[in-house]
Amino acid sequence: MTMDLSTFKEELLSVMEKKVHWSGAAFANGGVARDKLYIHFEQEFRLFVRDFPIFVGRAYVQCPVASVRRDLAENLYEEETGGIAAGKPHPILFLEIPRGFGCDMRRFDSVQLLAGSQKYRDVIDKFTECHGWEAACAIATIFIEGTPYERGEIDPNAPKRPVQPLEQHPLHAHYGLPLEFLALPRIHRGVEGGHREAAWRTILEHVSESARPGVVEAMKSALDGWHSYKEAVAEAVGLRRP
Ligand SMILES: [Fe+2]
Ligand SMILES: [Fe+2]
Repeated sequence: MTMDLSTFKEELLSVMEKKVHWSGAAFANGGVARDKLYIHFEQEFRLFVRDFPIFVGRAYVQCPVASVRRDLAENLYEEETGGIAAGKPHPILFLEIPRGFGCDMRRFDSVQLLAGSQKYRDVIDKFTECHGWEAACAIATIFIEGTPYERGEIDPNAPKRPVQPLEQHPLHAHYGLPLEFLALPRIHRGVEGGHREAAWRTILEHVSESARPGVVEAMKSALDGWHSYKEAVAEAVGLRRP
């Protein structure tokens, strides 16, 4: 089975446009109890932030296309070391957020994933480890790093990913987290555009016709896993579906 390029692109974009969850509004407008936020931070860290450079590395080692490997190597190097932009590994910078909230940081060494989070992690591991470089690359660089606004990354006429000033970041605006602890969101505003562009270039230009259907299947599984994760965290922080 093969898939033409425009169908492939639409299938991928339609997955990303469904990467939205009803709990997003509560996180964006301060509707989550302050003393429950640590659950969200712990799950996010253990589920994909801590190991994100490894996911990119899994795509790298499986990829036979040298130009794609160079993009992945650059992404991996920045995420793992911060050597290009951030100055520190991105997973370490993420931890500034819970540190700023006064969370017990020892808990981050041994977080237990909620069942719904584990489901998402299993999908990520499955498709980054042994389903070819194309699926690994799509899951790591398009799905995990991407937003519902991916169309805006590749189509000049589509709405762009909204980038609010850091002062309007929900953790600052609604919970008073000092801006200095938002080091990772600040860095991502700078480097992430390059990662989005490289991700789409790679997937649209280098994934062969015969590999496209498998990539779409991997992305749909990731979306399913992501929804389980979001449901689990919403429940754990005490939110009710409106
Ligand atoms: Fe990052
Ligand atoms: Fe990135």
